[in-house]
Amino acid sequence: MSSSTDAVIAGFRAEFGEPALILRSPGRVNLIGEHTDYNEGFVLPAAVDRGVTMALRPRSDRTFVLRALDLDKRLEGQIDALAPHPDRWPNYLLGVMDQLRKARFKLGGFELVYGGDLPMGAGMSSSAALECGLAFGLNELFKLGLNRQRLAQIGQAAEHTFVGVKCGIMDQMASMLSRKDQLMRLDCRDLSVNYVPMRGDVKIFLCDTQVERALAESGYNERRASCEAGVAILQKHDPAIRSLRDVQLDFLYAHRDEFDGVTFRRCRYVVEENLRVIAACEALEDGDLGEFGQLMNLSHYGLSQAYQVSCPELDVLADAASKLPGVLGSRMMGAGFGGCTINLVEASAAEAFQEGMIEAFARIHRKPLIHMCAPTQGTELL
Ligand code: GLA
Repeated sequence: MSSSTDAVIAGFRAEFGEPALILRSPGRVNLIGEHTDYNEGFVLPAAVDRGVTMALRPRSDRTFVLRALDLDKRLEGQIDALAPHPDRWPNYLLGVMDQLRKARFKLGGFELVYGGDLPMGAGMSSSAALECGLAFGLNELFKLGLNRQRLAQIGQAAEHTFVGVKCGIMDQMASMLSRKDQLMRLDCRDLSVNYVPMRGDVKIFLCDTQVERALAESGYNERRASCEAGVAILQKHDPAIRSLRDVQLDFLYAHRDEFDGVTFRRCRYVVEENLRVIAACEALEDGDLGEFGQLMNLSHYGLSQAYQVSCPELDVLADAASKLPGVLGSRMMGAGFGGCTINLVEASAAEAFQEGMIEAFARIHRKPLIHMCAPTQGTELL
């Protein structure tokens, strides 16, 4: 996506007239805690200063018009006849409308134009930005009275039903509930949130492999199934276990014989990653960014070797970054199979970092594509 807010407003005016509301819904980064959200574990994301801008206006009939500026696509339909579309792009939006209808909220027709500056398919959660943006917009437009957490859950359910990805809740919660200059420690079981200030003397850089995440969907759902299979085995020994969140490492090892190798490795990764998030938050509180960065590096190792959701390009970029001076930690971010690495870099080393990564990008035969991101406010009216 590459449209500015002004372009979205101009696009709306050209097609429909004056918008009733304009909003911004951000993408997110995740410092640590990958593939833990759907295991009811812990994550540490933040919304960032890249996102989707939407302009909306209600109509007096039951027709909706969706206009994707950057894709140059348009879809018109009836609120009372929602179904998944053969093209992928409208399904994030149709899914949200469908969830609201299923929950018996009164929606009328509306017009929507959207665009933004969030790279698609880079693992920065453009899907959650779209879902949360529309859920938030319709909540405002039709005075539905839903809170941000509920809107995030509607976004997640839209993705499960109309897009077909059994995602966790991290991306939508981050897009909805983040705060400027803060990281968000989220407990994905009870959805409680603690904010941790992001220090001014470090910067977040994303290095984009530009590798299309072709395997992401099937690979993602498969990982989730492995975790559920592991829980089913362990539950036989302790019925109190509801998810991998409840599993201690020694208990997992005690039942290793009952697992096939792949399922065991994947479950072990999740249990360890949860411990890393807890340790990383403690390190942050103690001001120990060196330790925090080490945990990020270990997270990458686990994602690559045990959970197997990395790819050669991500491995090269993470490895090269972690050897540069001033880089505290580097790891693949998000679902994996492509997308970006996230790098925590001392502010004083920011320029040298970008220079230093040029050679690593050459090794993966891609031109350098690096985004500097800052933690920002969740979805908001402009
Ligand atoms: C995707 C999903 C999230 C989460 C991450 C991996 O971004 O949408 O719910 O599972 O992958 O941590």
